[in-house]
Amino acid sequence: MKFDTPAIRNPIDRLKVVGKATTRIDGPRKTTGTAPYAYEQHDAAKGAAYGYVLGASIAKGRIAGIDLTVARAAPGVLAIITAEDAGRLDVGGFYVARALAGPEVAHYHQAVALVVAETFEQARAAAALLRPRYTATEGAFDLHVEKDKLPTVKPDPKLSSSVGDFDGAFAQAEITVDATYTTPDQSHAMLEPHATIAMWNGDKLTLHTAIQLVSWGVRDIAKILGIPKKNVRIVAPYIGGGFGGKGSILSDAVLAALAARRIGRPVKVTLQRPLMFNNTTHRAATIQRIRLGATRAGKLTAIGHESWSGNLGDRPETSTAPTRLLYAGANRMTRLQVAHLDLPEASAMRAPGEMPGMMALEIAMDELAEKLGMDPVALRVLNDTQVDPESPDKPYSQRQLVACLERGAEHFGWNLRSVKPASRREGRWLIGLGTASAIRGAPVVKSAARVRLSKSGNLTVETDMTDIGTGTYTILAQTAAEMLGVELSKVTVLLGDSRFPQGAGSGGQFGAASSTAGVYAACVKLREQVAARLGLSGVDIEFANGRVRAGGNSRPLTDAVAAGELVGEDAMEYGDLSKKYAQQTFGAHFVEVAVDADTGEIRIRRMLAVCAAGRILNPMAARSQIIGSMTMGAGAALMEDLVVDKRAGFFVNHDLAGYEVPVHADIPHQEVIFLDEVDATAGPLKAKGVGELGITGVPAAISNALYNATGVRVRDYPITLDKLL
Ligand code: MOS
Repeated sequence: MKFDTPAIRNPIDRLKVVGKATTRIDGPRKTTGTAPYAYEQHDAAKGAAYGYVLGASIAKGRIAGIDLTVARAAPGVLAIITAEDAGRLDVGGFYVARALAGPEVAHYHQAVALVVAETFEQARAAAALLRPRYTATEGAFDLHVEKDKLPTVKPDPKLSSSVGDFDGAFAQAEITVDATYTTPDQSHAMLEPHATIAMWNGDKLTLHTAIQLVSWGVRDIAKILGIPKKNVRIVAPYIGGGFGGKGSILSDAVLAALAARRIGRPVKVTLQRPLMFNNTTHRAATIQRIRLGATRAGKLTAIGHESWSGNLGDRPETSTAPTRLLYAGANRMTRLQVAHLDLPEASAMRAPGEMPGMMALEIAMDELAEKLGMDPVALRVLNDTQVDPESPDKPYSQRQLVACLERGAEHFGWNLRSVKPASRREGRWLIGLGTASAIRGAPVVKSAARVRLSKSGNLTVETDMTDIGTGTYTILAQTAAEMLGVELSKVTVLLGDSRFPQGAGSGGQFGAASSTAGVYAACVKLREQVAARLGLSGVDIEFANGRVRAGGNSRPLTDAVAAGELVGEDAMEYGDLSKKYAQQTFGAHFVEVAVDADTGEIRIRRMLAVCAAGRILNPMAARSQIIGSMTMGAGAALMEDLVVDKRAGFFVNHDLAGYEVPVHADIPHQEVIFLDEVDATAGPLKAKGVGELGITGVPAAISNALYNATGVRVRDYPITLDKLL
């Protein structure tokens, strides 16, 4: 089914099930520990052996040799997989670094060997007996140093944008800000580490693995192993978080597949937590220079944003993405540059681009507001635009940024903010309020599904779409229930199996809107078959309360399946609406902080997010997405920092003790408001994603609140107490 004409009305608009706060249908399985995650597929894993990954202890160089003799003779050892005998391994599509080092080592903790044994403990013990010898070479590990080696003229035009005359307008601007901000490398640090059980049946490979996009996984493992895609099956019904880190196949899956083929048995591999930080991907550190020029009245006349980062494959972190869209201004310039570092390869992490970009841009806006003597909310409202500022003939399909800011300011008590920094005090505590905008793209991608209606009137939805903890199971069930007019309890959703129709996958905040659209398309097909069997037709046909009504006739839905089950299958594909409309989600964050005047101890007191993101399919799940985002944003503001050892070239704090993330006690009060919105360009559900919207802007709002509390402007994340003293 092609979606290129915004539907005025469709069956979803009846909103009996869609749009209602609904507890997770997968919740009981998760809370009782009966939802099998990849490493827990015990039935599949009968007779499985265990693999243990040994990571490289240098960042760059060569493996001079590994003596396998002692480890091979250790108790329980079945095989040791190294690059020497693994054969040629191609690289995948999304993640470029090779899964197995040898002879070259590309980064610290790149897998050097997989030891396979009868038990996990035996594999671990034998791995400790491997003593690879390395020849290390010098590497490039320091973004600040590599940045200065980059040519400063003529960057890749694909990574730049220019409108009007930025240099001239900035030089002539009445009020200017010119500041440089730095954001550190960050880790997804999801709860479930990467894990895979691999098994072969002849030349057919099955992987039970933790992956956000099943079809990407099939594509990439087939390429890496040099086997046809049709010989690969990936199963991933439950995933314990991803945040972009499970975008595609990593070493656990590749090595498990190689080992299972070698020993002719299933093999289980999970990355030990200490490997998760250097063996896998991370969010790249950035250095960002922002220049803003404005009239004395606060109208932006010049907007410049340059960003330098390490490499994601050969791409940069796209930090300038939000700056290209967020505020009006006639003269604009953005530029991305990439420094090739010998650190582990960076990749996508929750709101890649927008997240680090907004960490910088939204502090710069606060700095500009102060120079103007203007309220930070008013400055943002004044510079709103209803068209893409780089393509003025392209309107926003929906853009309620101003409403988000104004509603938030009123609800939060923004008028309590003292304009003068460091002037509000409660005992030892300095109190400050801060705000920032939020923006994240709202793409939709092709997504397919199959829906079965059984003789008993139960519906089963099948798609390879995943639920990474976001609530996919529930919103797909809501969609099918709405479309066929049955109760939610009659719907079973089966996800994450490459044998099912190819869904959107979880990524880029496109999952919810796209995968529900795929289920919608399949349900339309199913409705047509039901109507034909019942001999009902007409534009007024209605599926509700287990009955089908049309033209004054009404029949039980189950009459249509008396003769056997019906199956509807289709995909939703999109025309060129995204070329005609700028499709984004918007929000505003408000934060109150307290800072101990003597010690600099930082406390977040309360947070508010106001979001406009199309139809909210399940307000309960969407709220959970936003408060999770706000929490992760608080981590980015105050804690998260993969510390680079610039001599040895690795992330030093590679465990959950050293890599700090917020806990409940760090976040006492969070509130989320969704503005009423339907976006008819966003697909038949008129919904957009929220999971990445909610993190953008949060660190800047916290930073701005800290400035308001203390009068100290920190441009270098994370904002730790030493930087305030
Ligand atoms: Mo996301 S970081 O686009 O999975």
